Amino acid sequence: MARILITSAIPYINGIKHLGNLVGSQLPADLFARYHRARGNEVMFICATDEHGTPAELAAAKAGKPVEEYCKEMHAVQSELADGFRLSFDHYGRSSSDRNHRLTQHFAGKLADAGLIEEVSETQVYSNADGRFLPDRYIEGTCPNCGSEDARGDQCEVCTKQLDPTDLINPRSAISGSTDLEVRDTKHLYLRQSTLKDKLDAWISSKTDWPILTTSIAKKWLHDGEGLRDRGITRDLDWGIPVKRGTENWPGMEGKVFYVWFDAPIEYIAATAEWADANGKVDADWERWWRTDKGADDVTYVQFMGKDNVPFHTLSFPATIMGSDEPWKLVDYIKSFNYLNYDGGQFSTSKGRGVFMDQALAILPSDYWRWWLLSHTPESSDSEFTWDDFQACVNSDLANVLGNFVSRVTKFCRSKFSEEIPAGNDYGPAEQAVIDALQTRLTAYETYMADMEIRKAASELRAIWSLGNEYLQEVAPWSVFKTDEAAAATQIRFALNLVPFYAALSEPFIPDAADALSDAMNTPLAWPENVAAAVNLLPVGHAFSVPEITFAKITDDARDEMQAKFAGDS
Ligand code: MF3
Ligand code: ZN
Repeated sequence: MARILITSAIPYINGIKHLGNLVGSQLPADLFARYHRARGNEVMFICATDEHGTPAELAAAKAGKPVEEYCKEMHAVQSELADGFRLSFDHYGRSSSDRNHRLTQHFAGKLADAGLIEEVSETQVYSNADGRFLPDRYIEGTCPNCGSEDARGDQCEVCTKQLDPTDLINPRSAISGSTDLEVRDTKHLYLRQSTLKDKLDAWISSKTDWPILTTSIAKKWLHDGEGLRDRGITRDLDWGIPVKRGTENWPGMEGKVFYVWFDAPIEYIAATAEWADANGKVDADWERWWRTDKGADDVTYVQFMGKDNVPFHTLSFPATIMGSDEPWKLVDYIKSFNYLNYDGGQFSTSKGRGVFMDQALAILPSDYWRWWLLSHTPESSDSEFTWDDFQACVNSDLANVLGNFVSRVTKFCRSKFSEEIPAGNDYGPAEQAVIDALQTRLTAYETYMADMEIRKAASELRAIWSLGNEYLQEVAPWSVFKTDEAAAATQIRFALNLVPFYAALSEPFIPDAADALSDAMNTPLAWPENVAAAVNLLPVGHAFSVPEITFAKITDDARDEMQAKFAGDS
């Protein structure tokens, strides 16, 4: 039995995520977790909300709530939506947890002990009206290059020129609009990750099996232009993890917090500790996943994330781990994703363009979304959600192929025989041909699932479903029944046995349908040893029931209505 640690990039706390966010880490991670559990491996599947930073503070202010309260509420909302999509996290933690406070401060202390932290004095813009330092992108003004009046302190989006806040003409606070700004001196901690460059380089180079998308981004950051710059890991903000050196105060750092990107990946570890706390476990129970000196040396650790997250996971977080000089588990494999676009453009949170997780669940059950999203995962390139494609995919794969197969065989058996597996004869050449074809596909499916080739796995599964329909078409038990009842019974017994086989294989993609099928067939979900065994699972006389309609078709009217509804403001 293998031990697999799986983390999904932790979503920002502010706002409900759209389907592009979902397919960019949490959903494929869930597929992988479910697959490994089904294969009998020991899985720890961790996610959390990413709660610190200015966006969370501003969202709370906009909602008129203290930031702690806002985060608590939004965590509950996100957690419920995760349940709605059947994301099977062992724990859905919070980066603001006590565990993460302690661990983040612990790592900072270890990094300081190793001589990897530098104190740097710098200047930063302070807004008197807002009573706070402003991050660069929260300062706006006129672009010195093109004259756009909405340039940000880090970049002008109109002419794309990179800017410093002091370049802006007539700078103002993006939060309040106030022009009462001043430049103040402040001091910050920098992680000297440039000193770890060779170690990181050697480590990345050793990962020859990683997706090109992952390693190319990592190498670009290691070697191109700016290269691996030392990185500020503290901020002048109220909301965050107070800067401490282990449990000690850090002189000169009073009132400052760690930068959100420093504490967020540490939450992967902290959330596993939160899991232990929430389940009456002891420290050793989570440490065996994370400490190579405490049992984690036989763990395979896989991370899932969107491509924009790759630099932080290939360089910054490993720098934290390596720099600590303690035996923490480093990631073994990073599966990264391109973007999902929406109907000819991008998903946009601010414009309300696209489908968000809460809206999706209000329209259709999660399996419909899971199937479309996973079978269209943006792996080798960006992919696009269109309503036409969604409708066609659901109607053909789920309704016509899988749903129809199950409903035909169960109903036929009920009307011609009974709601029990009929006897008939031994399987013959027609069945053997299907067994052989299925076995080839099952082996391919297992390989794709283990390799996280998600689209290929989905098309293999679709082909496996189709083989059942093709068999029925070919042998036509409804005509055979008229002349040879025993032969028809054999065919139906064979086809009925494919239902629990399909349920088990489909469970990682469409868990609710899989449960419904296994309930109807009156047998628990179990990954098949091989196809020959699977088609003899249900013995003659085994009782089943005809399942409720598993998948309804999406009509053209419903499709058009949804398309209009989610087009966004502009
Ligand atoms: N919140 C970030 C995002 O949504 C992801 C953080 S992943 C972590 O892009 F590793 F930093 F935790
Ligand atoms: Zn400009």
